[in-house]
Amino acid sequence: MKIAFFSTKSYDREFFDRYVSTHEIIYFEAPLNAQTVNLAAGCEGICAFVNDKLNTAVLSALKKLGIQLVALRCAGFNNVNIESAKTNGITVVRVPAYSPYAVAEHALALILTLNRKTHKAYNRVREGNFSLDRLTGFDLHGKTVGVIGTGKIGEVFCGIMQGFGCNVLAFDLMANPTLVAKGVNYLPLIELLEQSDIISLHCPLTEQTRYIINEHSISMMKEGVMLINTSRGALIDTSDAIDGLKAGKIGYLGLDVYEQEEKLFFNDLSENIIQDDIIMRLMSFPNVLVTAHQGFFTEEALSQIAQVTLTNIDAFVAGAVLENKVV
Ligand code: NAI
Repeated sequence: MKIAFFSTKSYDREFFDRYVSTHEIIYFEAPLNAQTVNLAAGCEGICAFVNDKLNTAVLSALKKLGIQLVALRCAGFNNVNIESAKTNGITVVRVPAYSPYAVAEHALALILTLNRKTHKAYNRVREGNFSLDRLTGFDLHGKTVGVIGTGKIGEVFCGIMQGFGCNVLAFDLMANPTLVAKGVNYLPLIELLEQSDIISLHCPLTEQTRYIINEHSISMMKEGVMLINTSRGALIDTSDAIDGLKAGKIGYLGLDVYEQEEKLFFNDLSENIIQDDIIMRLMSFPNVLVTAHQGFFTEEALSQIAQVTLTNIDAFVAGAVLENKVV
């Protein structure tokens, strides 16, 4: 099968080229959208990433080009119009799990950095400033951590936080029995919001979870709460989070994802004038830490993503059962 890979970076090529496949891969740096979709002409499949837009217009255009398969090299599929993929008879596969540890450990990195301010200490010491002023943190031990979404990543994250001696609360549509057995306490969302010192989001972006963190839910949180989002940007209403930060209600905000990230993340814009005033405002707070969707970015996860994506494509070509089929 001839496959057009969109939004590729050097590391995508490096990892996919390690697992030589029988398929012909054409790498494009361009993201997939209505303007770039015709790059897939002559291919039978495409491979897309988190910020590629697979809306109705793009899927209809892919159908016209004869594309039969969309292989997502990510877990989330909120960027795909599933109904439209069905209507156009396009099969969509994904990589449902490729190292829950990578993302859960990154959530922890955000927590520890925001708390102990190691990013500031690093810069200070390099400049000969050995003062400890304003670097005060808090013990994680004994704190209450609320986890929203306890699937693969949320489960690992709960275990990590229990390892720190935290009291872990959870909210999900269904309780995870393994976590219940380990002492994780499932509560209604409101109670989790009210009781948690740290809240970490690990649910997918759906119609139900869009803006699950908004003015109303923020108002229920503890004063000075730490909020961590390594899941999808639109789980948080960013303007409401900014109001929460200005009021001091949110004491720390750690983001690996951002609602408008597709215009920014994965690109070097260091010499550009950034037009997104919301992210610039966010980055101006001393208690906000933004990373550019790097939760997945470990050797283990990248290897797994490449292998599972190629296995998904092989299975489709062979007409085998598609274990990782979305639609
Ligand atoms: P998963 O499917 O194993 O778990 C998701 C959990 O969220 C499930 O337990 C589900 O029941 C729960 N959930 C669904 N709707 C909910 C709702 N309305 N309220 C509360 N809980 C709800 O997914 P996994 O692998 O743990 O990934 C979670 C998310 O992490 C993905 O959807 C993706 O958005 C994000 N992610 C971020 C990455 C990064 O690099 N920052 C990399 C990989 C995933």
